[in-house]
Amino acid sequence: MDSLLIRGGNALAGEVRISGAKNAALPILTASLLTAEPLVLSNVPHLKDVGTMLALLGHMGVTVTPDERNHVTLCGESIPHREAPYEMVKTMRASILVLGPTLARFGEARVSLPGGCAIGSRPVDLHIKGLQAMGAEISIEHGYIHARAKRLQGAHIAMDVVTVTGTENLMMAAALAEGTTVLANAAREPEVVDLAECLIAMGARIEGAGSGVITIHGVPELHGATHRVMPDRIETGTFLVAAAMTGGRIRALDAAPETLVSVLGKLADAGAKVTQGDDWIEVESDGVLNAVDVRTAPHPAFPTDMQAQFMALNCIASGAASITETIFENRFMHVQELRRLGANIEVSGHTALVRGVPRLDGATVMATDLRASACLVLAGLVAAGETTIERIYHLDRGYERIEEKLTQLGARIQRIH
Ligand code: UD1
Repeated sequence: MDSLLIRGGNALAGEVRISGAKNAALPILTASLLTAEPLVLSNVPHLKDVGTMLALLGHMGVTVTPDERNHVTLCGESIPHREAPYEMVKTMRASILVLGPTLARFGEARVSLPGGCAIGSRPVDLHIKGLQAMGAEISIEHGYIHARAKRLQGAHIAMDVVTVTGTENLMMAAALAEGTTVLANAAREPEVVDLAECLIAMGARIEGAGSGVITIHGVPELHGATHRVMPDRIETGTFLVAAAMTGGRIRALDAAPETLVSVLGKLADAGAKVTQGDDWIEVESDGVLNAVDVRTAPHPAFPTDMQAQFMALNCIASGAASITETIFENRFMHVQELRRLGANIEVSGHTALVRGVPRLDGATVMATDLRASACLVLAGLVAAGETTIERIYHLDRGYERIEEKLTQLGARIQRIH
């Protein structure tokens, strides 16, 4: 298993090109199931999760042709296997995204129930309820969700909890349903908007994506399209926090500043200088930071996927601040690892109180999930001496060439096989 060795202490400086967003690419890849014509995508990041999704779509019958570096053409002319097997779903929960489009186009789909997950129980009940409201018959058999419907019918669906992939699954299903579907309390995440834009390019009739109410007028079929995947706002945020923590200056290129308003606000509150243009963001800092309170909530509030990185920042800031996680119940697993580096953190329920310490000291730590891994990399970049991060396969799920990008910015980081 690979690990990362980081020698902390260098201020990071320079430019970094941001990759396509993992969380936009995954649903958009599954949109290929909605049409018999080719879907041509660009800015698709090379990530383990993307590879898993391509393997799943390939298993179902989609022809997958990667051409230039980050381009992929998908053709779902015939889909003989309308099933997502357990082996694939268990490695990546986002596999549930094949349920809506497969059911809508073929009238049947079988998707393994995703098991427990390291960051909480993460049920899929809202995906199922929404499809049932659209007329699907759903049974759970041998650990699989088995969904059937002659043709889905438009429905008014009010979701109890804001769910990102739930909104995406139902939006894709509704695109081919008969009649109009209204999704109330829909997720407003930029990735939902990116998927909607791709679906609209494919002929879907969707209004309101990016707001809490999305209206979808179903059409009998969709056609092929080309689409460029939006920039990854979490990757962007992670590099910008690295600039602030190391007392450096990083310009993120090919970024989408409008998707990062709450994160950029927090960086400014912490004392970093933030400037931006249409598609770039620069953060400069002397490394002297104030601790900032963070409370995660659905977009446009502060994203849970940036919580761990701001915890790392608070560890070395002056003062104390609270980090409250409201989306996932078990998303503080990085706390124990940060403590191994000398951080002062107390957890009480969903809130962590972080008291800044003058310095962190390198140690061996273990990555437990994707964003926790990113937080440990950030901590390692400022810790005195060497930090070894084990189990970094989590990092490869969501960060494209992270050690290469960090090295270009002046970090001393090395992958050990
Ligand atoms: C997506 C993102 C993930 C991010 C999360 C929250 C992708 C591929 N992943 O995950 O990176 O951390 O949004 O921004 O886009 N819930 C239910 N019932 C459901 C579905 C969800 O109760 O049927 C709950 C979950 O347990 C959680 C909350 O809703 O507490 C939000 O989860 P959700 O938005 O669905 O997360 P994902 O879409 O899985």
